[in-house]
Amino acid sequence: MTFTIAYLPGDGVGPEVGAAARAVMERAAALSGISLSFVECDFGGIAIDRTGDPFPAETRRACLEADAVFLGAVGGPKWDRGPARPEAGLLKLRKELGVFANLRPVKMTPGLEHLSPLKNDIAKGTDLLIVRELIGGVYFGDREEGVRAARDSCAYTREEVERVARVAFEAARSRRGKVASVDKANVLATGRLWRAAVSELHAAEYPDIALEHVLVDAMAMKLVQAPARFDVIVTENMFGDILSDEASVIAGSIGLAPSASLGASGGGLYEPIHGSAPDIAGQNKANPAGAILCAAMLMRHALKAENAADAIETAVERAIAAGEGTADIGGSQSCSGFADTVCKALEA
Ligand code: NAD
Ligand code: IPM
Ligand code: MN
Repeated sequence: MTFTIAYLPGDGVGPEVGAAARAVMERAAALSGISLSFVECDFGGIAIDRTGDPFPAETRRACLEADAVFLGAVGGPKWDRGPARPEAGLLKLRKELGVFANLRPVKMTPGLEHLSPLKNDIAKGTDLLIVRELIGGVYFGDREEGVRAARDSCAYTREEVERVARVAFEAARSRRGKVASVDKANVLATGRLWRAAVSELHAAEYPDIALEHVLVDAMAMKLVQAPARFDVIVTENMFGDILSDEASVIAGSIGLAPSASLGASGGGLYEPIHGSAPDIAGQNKANPAGAILCAAMLMRHALKAENAADAIETAVERAIAAGEGTADIGGSQSCSGFADTVCKALEA
């Protein structure tokens, strides 16, 4: 059987980190006897340039038919003022795939605490999983554009909260058994619904999990004060966006952070959490580790190739520990050079 992967390199550093992840996936698959077929699709700014639409119908079809979707990154200053935005294409893609749970792991590799901007004893032991609700909230509410006034609105249903909270509780069961649910229940109606729905699901189905509720402003503080005390963090769309960028640098760089977006069915969407990094695009110096770790998540979740996923994660960790990293983590390796190192390590 051949697995089909819709491959969307996108904009900026997207094609650079995407090529690195693809090379690693191809090598890991070949070594495990897995057959992969990549369908490369226009998406984001490049698709706007070619078709006027960030998410063309052909790309949509390929994504819906594929066993998994891999995305590099989209966006950039070139499209910031245009009528069509690359980011709008990304939101449509997530919605079409129904990927409501975005898993964003952040792990401080033991011995590499010096990479963290935090004091080493604070960063030490950080191993958390942010479960971000991905297809609801203010990202998808009614919106009014305007020059003198503008409006975005945030809405959630109980069912939308419960299904993502369930993913978080299940993940906690195979980790350290703790969930921190993050909301703004002291101000927002959606925050109060969020807290009530998570509490009730917890009492009914997950009493074995230690649940705490944390207000989002306090969480922003606690993440840099004592990140190692958290296990699974579940939160709504925009809070998850912000907190995951914050959490990612605890381990050294946003370039290290992968994500998997999963729905009720389908193989899911895999994208590093960083953007198109226009400031370093085209220089072969972006850190592809996050994208390569997405490849591992894709192999684990969509292809059920656990051994290949483990092998990729070990190879990335070893390459970084051996000082083979890119400039953002103090190394001198190029983006493609890091991918070569990981591919070679897979064969060893
Ligand atoms: P960004 O994540 O692109 O960059 C923020 C900073 O992190 C920059 O200094 C950049 O150089 C650095 N960085 C990011 N990825 C890196 C990597 N792999 N290796 C080394 N350094 C890295 O965020 P931004 O600058 O705020 O946004 C740029 C564009 O990307 C915007 O158009 C935004 O909408 C878009 N964006 C897209 C996605 C996505 O496609 N999933 C995610 C976030 C932002
Ligand atoms: C991310 C990005 C996206 C988001 C943007 C580009 C739409 O920041 O994947 O974290 O806000 O979800
Ligand atoms: Mn983001």
